[in-house]
Amino acid sequence: MPESGGTCLPSENTILQDATTRFVGAADNHALDEAKAFFLGKNGQLQTLLRGLPSLPAKERPAVGKQLNALREKIEQLYQEGRDRLRKEKMQRTLSQKIDVTLPGRQIESGGLHPLSLATERAENIFSSIGFGIADGPEIETDYYNFTALNHPPDHPARSMHDTFYTSDGRLLRTHTSPVQIRHMLSHSAPPIRAIAPGRVYRCDHDATHSPMFHQIEGIWIDDTVTFTGLKGVLGAFFRAFFDDDDIALRFRPSYFPFTEPSAECDIRRSDGDWLEVAGCGMIHPNVLVHGGVDNTQYRGFAFGVGVERLAMLLYGVTDIRQFYENDLRFLKQFASE
Ligand code: FA5
Ligand code: MG
Repeated sequence: MPESGGTCLPSENTILQDATTRFVGAADNHALDEAKAFFLGKNGQLQTLLRGLPSLPAKERPAVGKQLNALREKIEQLYQEGRDRLRKEKMQRTLSQKIDVTLPGRQIESGGLHPLSLATERAENIFSSIGFGIADGPEIETDYYNFTALNHPPDHPARSMHDTFYTSDGRLLRTHTSPVQIRHMLSHSAPPIRAIAPGRVYRCDHDATHSPMFHQIEGIWIDDTVTFTGLKGVLGAFFRAFFDDDDIALRFRPSYFPFTEPSAECDIRRSDGDWLEVAGCGMIHPNVLVHGGVDNTQYRGFAFGVGVERLAMLLYGVTDIRQFYENDLRFLKQFASE
């Protein structure tokens, strides 16, 4: 605080010395800002001196005021110099950083196909190699193609096992890929017909081997000499190729589907000794051939519907079907290299 009698200079000098020490020694912008507030802030050193001005004799005030202004400018300059110094130091540090140009670049991780896609592709390749074409049909299907054309009249009890979602216009999420049988027959002029149709299907199911949404691969072969023995031969050859195992334990169990006669279900033995159902199959019912526009006095056919999840479970040793849909990278990464 300037004393009366004009002796404010020593304290000004002291302030300037202190300020120089603090600004020159500031290690970062934060320290600079703090020092600025200490000297020039609202309650800073300079303000304290300025507040003493009115108590000075009137004739001294202009000179002292001028000195204090000059001090403010000097401190502001010190602050600015401090900022410039820190900026240059930072630049120097960056420039002097050594870059090792021999370091390997950052790896770009490549994605991988989902195990169900891998299993579907594997199945498609095998069926293509034995002469099957690949067909497709809608997942939102009409009641007619999903049920009626497949010999399930509206009041048939077999419908109860195929509960699903219905749209307000009366269509439904298909419960199996079998409607593609009819669509494919209708869109092809005459047998021989030999095709598979992979795709998603929906049911009211949920446990370790049943999912509410899952994938099937439908297959049909229609010609004048097709037999149930042929069906067993084709499915057997497919499973042996799929699992790359000539001794795979396969069993055909008599079963019932309204759209095949006779019908069977096909199971494969797991490593733990239990059997896992992998497909339904049978000789196409004559009524179904008629609905597909095929002359049932001249042609016969077989059909099958394989569960893709079940194939993938057996191929990869997965015991809970829900793992396919959890998107756990620890699970999915195991298939990424294929
Ligand atoms: C059918 O869906 C028949 N459309 C199959 C068929 C086609 C028979 C052609 C005759 C002629 P099924 O409901 O059994 O049949 O299902 C076929 C296969 O799909 C089963 O063997 C099983 O491998 C699989 N599967 C069935 N339900 C589920 C489910 N909820 N989750 C996962 N896989 C399933
Ligand atoms: Mg079944």
